[in-house]
Amino acid sequence: MEHRALVRLAAPAVAALIALTAGCTGGTVQGRPGASGLRDPYFPKAGNGGYQVDHYALDLDYDPADGRLDGTAVITARAEQGLSSFNLDLSGLTVESVTVQGEPARHNRAGNELTVRPAADLKKGEVFRVEVDYGGKPKAIVDADSSKEGWITTPGGAVGVGEPVGSMAWFPGNHHPSDKATYDITLTVPHGYEAVSNGELRSRTETGDGRTEFAWHNPEPMASYLATAVVGPYKVTTAKTPSGVPVYNAVSPGEAAASAGALARLPEIVDWGSGRFGPYPFGTTGAIVLPKGTLTYALETQTRPVFSGAPAEEDLVVHELAHQWFGDSVSPKSWKDMWLNEGFATYAEWLWAEDHGGVGAQKRFEAFLAGDTSVDDDADSDWDAFPPAAPPGPEHISGNPVYYRGAMVLHRIRQEVGDAKFFDLLRGWAVDHRHGNASTAEFTAYAEKRTGHDLKKVWDVWLYGEGRPR
Ligand code: TRP
Ligand code: ZN
Repeated sequence: MEHRALVRLAAPAVAALIALTAGCTGGTVQGRPGASGLRDPYFPKAGNGGYQVDHYALDLDYDPADGRLDGTAVITARAEQGLSSFNLDLSGLTVESVTVQGEPARHNRAGNELTVRPAADLKKGEVFRVEVDYGGKPKAIVDADSSKEGWITTPGGAVGVGEPVGSMAWFPGNHHPSDKATYDITLTVPHGYEAVSNGELRSRTETGDGRTEFAWHNPEPMASYLATAVVGPYKVTTAKTPSGVPVYNAVSPGEAAASAGALARLPEIVDWGSGRFGPYPFGTTGAIVLPKGTLTYALETQTRPVFSGAPAEEDLVVHELAHQWFGDSVSPKSWKDMWLNEGFATYAEWLWAEDHGGVGAQKRFEAFLAGDTSVDDDADSDWDAFPPAAPPGPEHISGNPVYYRGAMVLHRIRQEVGDAKFFDLLRGWAVDHRHGNASTAEFTAYAEKRTGHDLKKVWDVWLYGEGRPR
């Protein structure tokens, strides 16, 4: 169309014409920039708007000798709006090139945001492929509660962990738990090293140039904070749970003896979980035991939790494995919903004890209320410091009340509805939200519907109420 013709049209006609052109598939797509964050109440810049990721194919080459990571991330995503540009979260590292749909794309960095401007705008609903080539020495991230995640070096190796915002230190992505995707993580390391990640080891190949390539495959959706990559001198053992789930353990040699007892119980713990919470949600299981002191916590990395040194008690193994149902399969919609992870995983420890001759949930509940937290090794007198569904800030999302008062919320439900309905609720929640995301409001509505009880008082006092509940 000629401009000259356009100027002679009356204003309303011009507007109509522009609307027509924008809506027509053959014409110019009117994309706009995707948001640079998902406005999470605690981490507003985490994740990005305008698209959802279907799959990450990460090819990571790591050399423990110099700490350098060279990565290619191929991200398959679907546009949720017309996009003129979109963001990925990435912290540190150098971006060498970006392509979108095979075409070179302009990109720039500001803080932890990598903005990508494709050669052509993306249409709403379009499935597109982004390839990011990047590299450098990845770093640890110190988060709001001063714990460390991201990329952490170990003697002769390294570990990448995410919760809550560390994954952006080792791969670009949509780093918010609400956007789950499937993953292929391929780790290439010098010959003689082990490289371990989530899921199933599809192949282990000597590359011919003195390196070994480990291809890990995850067909079930995963939140990016649950991805892990571990490189180093590990001792690998494999087994099967009694019900047949393949087990792959990687243990730092110095921790092998101390880990043996707790890891010997892992297979039966997985099958116990299936009995209590419904079918195990993933195709593989296992554990990764890092050198002692690598992290100040254990983490429920999907299919294969990491422990920092030998797990001190079998309780911790129960906790991280219970997360496979609660947190990993059913993931929080926002970081405010952390009690759906931690309250449930803590309650699972109480249930395991109850089922195996230990101190049961009712006793623990009563002892906590009486001011005695010694029944739970990890608990502290501040278990009631804030309502578990409303941590006062990002530094509190892993605070004691999220774990212990969160577990007590579940016990209060059990007291109201009785064992049969309560265990049906736990299982129903895990099964009905399998591989998805859920919020606290969805849980409270589900609990009332599933049990047929009005639980408003429990929510008001235990979940949301300020001050010490009673
Ligand atoms: N989610 C872990 C667990 O309960 C604990 C954890 C991971 C954590 N990262 C953290 C606790 C950072 C505090 C800070 O098993
Ligand atoms: Zn936990």
